[in-house]
Amino acid sequence: MDDGSTTPVRVALVGLGDIGLGAHLPALLRSERVALVGVVDPRPERRALAVEAAGSDVPAYADIDDLGSATAADAVVLATPPWVTTGLAVTILRTGQYVLAEKPLATSVAATHALVELPPADLARLQVGLTYRHDPALARLRTWIRHGPLDGPLLIRAHIYDERLDPTDPAHSHRIREALAHGSPVVHEGAHVFDWLAYVLGGPPERVADAWAVRTDATFAAPNLTGARLAYPRGTTALVEFGWLTDGLPRCELSLLGQRAYAVLDGFTFRLRLTMATGVEVVDDPVDRTTRCFDRQVEAFVDLVRGRVDKAVPGFAEGFASLSLAEEVARRATTRPSRRRE
Ligand SMILES: NC(=O)c1ccc[n+]([C@@H]2O[C@H](COP(=O)([O-])OP(=O)(O)OC[C@H]3O[C@@H](n4cnc5c(N)ncnc54)[C@H](O)[C@@H]3O)[C@@H](O)[C@H]2O)c1
Repeated sequence: MDDGSTTPVRVALVGLGDIGLGAHLPALLRSERVALVGVVDPRPERRALAVEAAGSDVPAYADIDDLGSATAADAVVLATPPWVTTGLAVTILRTGQYVLAEKPLATSVAATHALVELPPADLARLQVGLTYRHDPALARLRTWIRHGPLDGPLLIRAHIYDERLDPTDPAHSHRIREALAHGSPVVHEGAHVFDWLAYVLGGPPERVADAWAVRTDATFAAPNLTGARLAYPRGTTALVEFGWLTDGLPRCELSLLGQRAYAVLDGFTFRLRLTMATGVEVVDDPVDRTTRCFDRQVEAFVDLVRGRVDKAVPGFAEGFASLSLAEEVARRATTRPSRRRE
């Protein structure tokens, strides 16, 4: 793909659910470097909403096979459930197109097999939708960890509580219950959080020290609350918790406590507050988190398609690393320790 070209990248959006219509579509429409050439979803009502937002000249299809050569897309954004995303990504990457695929890439490490088997040149055209990796707040945290004042052993606490059970929104609870049937909250939410931690700390944990899980309602397909204690290099410990589907939810935030500073990242807005002996510093972007992160993500994707960068960031390696750590936590949380012999 030419890099100096000002010709917009031709992108199709596949999956017009909550995040497809709510965040990807507006970001694609806002970018001057993108031409939206088609939208796909089996649900006619979602296609109608997409066409209403994008304009009637954007063709809408029920099946990705119908996208065909008519749209001549350079690239495809997959905002589909993870149990659908893996197969679609493999099919599209094989055609030579670029893919921005929502996280998690799959519901299990085993399910990524077909991606792993792809030739490296095909896999290199995959960017993973670990969207918040692009947020300037995370870059600031990384700088504080590398250069101070958070440059020491840290106690990190990630409380990721989202998807409250809302009796007035049965469609939402049905959707989240379905997601739970395809894996614990750590698989879905951990994809992001483990990527944030790898990014700010410069790598993965040395080990999962322990993990736990609680099912607050016996009718749930899997435990809806889960967590772990992760041991990172240089004495840093991360206590991570993920929870869905209770009537009330604890706060959602990530905090980092070191000898000289305490940082708190709001889990929804990414407003960042650093407290030190010398005072308080607040990092608060006036643009809302979804807009700023999805815009940056699209720009990174266009750079990849245009060959302005030689590597997708985050790419398959990052998506796989966060998925495999999430899977290990989910497995450890639900495996009973074997009894020691007397
Ligand atoms: N990056 C983020 O911040 C973020 C936020 C929320 C969700 N997500 C991820 O995005 C993905 C989608 O989540 P959602 O909440 O929008 O789910 P959703 O169920 O609301 O939407 C998924 C859409 O995909 C469509 N779909 C299913 N199979 C399809 C196929 N074969 N071809 C085309 N469309 C198909 C469905 O009809 C539905 O409209 C999930 O993997 C989720 O983890 C990411």
